[in-house]
Amino acid sequence: MSSTKDSLVREVAEKLPSSGNKITVVGIGAVGMACAFSVLTQNVSSEVCLIDCIPDKLAGELMDLQHGSNFLKNPKLSAGTDYSLTVGSRICIVTAGARQREGESRLDLVQRNTDILKGIIPKLVQYSPNTILLMVANPVDIMTYVAWKLSGLPKNRVIGSGTNLDSSRFRFLMSQKLDLAPTSCHGWIIGEHGDSSVPVWSGVNIAGVRLREINPAVGTPEDPEKWNELHKMVVDSAYEVIKLKGYTSWAIGLSCADLASAILRNESSVHAVSTSVIGEHSIDKDVFLSLPCVLNANGVTHIVKQILTPTEISQLHKSANLMHEVQTGLKF
Ligand SMILES: NC(=O)c1ccc[n+]([C@@H]2O[C@H](COP(=O)([O-])OP(=O)(O)OC[C@H]3O[C@@H](n4cnc5c(N)ncnc54)[C@H](O)[C@@H]3O)[C@@H](O)[C@H]2O)c1
Repeated sequence: MSSTKDSLVREVAEKLPSSGNKITVVGIGAVGMACAFSVLTQNVSSEVCLIDCIPDKLAGELMDLQHGSNFLKNPKLSAGTDYSLTVGSRICIVTAGARQREGESRLDLVQRNTDILKGIIPKLVQYSPNTILLMVANPVDIMTYVAWKLSGLPKNRVIGSGTNLDSSRFRFLMSQKLDLAPTSCHGWIIGEHGDSSVPVWSGVNIAGVRLREINPAVGTPEDPEKWNELHKMVVDSAYEVIKLKGYTSWAIGLSCADLASAILRNESSVHAVSTSVIGEHSIDKDVFLSLPCVLNANGVTHIVKQILTPTEISQLHKSANLMHEVQTGLKF
């Protein structure tokens, strides 16, 4: 007897194995699920695969998302501990790892998360040799370097979420101070996603009007308006959110969806992401840090040559030296 399905539809061609815009998220904690949710609700991808090492959690998150698929655009969802599920991923977002505990810095996580990546990155590349790795686990700049080393992929295809989030935090705080929309506030945080990040005060502007032209002390300790507190708040903001709710999730999820969208839509839009910076601004260390990068289907294709002040360059060099110091102690 033929099934209802067979009576209803007749197969006339084989299904394609993949949508062509598949995103895998490795690590489905607070950050991984915020990434998956942002990607799905913003319709960045129609195919999302979740990977973790906890089968029950995977099954639960998968079911929960599937039950909402009627309100999405019919995405194809999968989840499991087996990396063969990730086959054909255009982007792999890697959030698996330990998170900071209260009072712990991002750099404290370094060897723990390196060891975790050793079991993840080679398998992702095995099933998706053309993938772009988007690293999120902290300390993200070092983890991006580690992922590049472990993957054997060209540098343009190994990207860290970097200071895309810090720049968004900065623009939000600017918007609060000026009572303007964050998207109309232009400011870039570069360097380390972390304590040594660099605010590019020389370029902060609204509609092309640089704040330094109005108030030359902006961003300096001498500034009576204390604009430099905004950068301190950016640096402290993850610690603050972690203290209040235990982890950060929504903003990083949205930031990753923004980056994934730029890649899948081949946008060539400019984002502050962690990339190989040797040779940029006279940096002589083989480290990954955030600079404004052109993102498209080939990953990072260009780095914007920002015109930085000597102070900003020296802060960037401090970030690079710090990354290099931590990297030299790593055991692969
Ligand atoms: N780059 C950024 O801007 C940014 C922002 C927020 C958090 N983070 C970082 O993201 C990471 C994840 O944070 P979280 O709050 O989601 O943590 P979490 O503890 O909620 O989730 C981590 C997940 O990784 C999984 N995992 C651990 N080892 C694994 C392995 N070997 N294989 C597969 N899965 C594994 C765990 O089971 C868990 O589900 C942390 O390193 C955190 O510091 C980065």
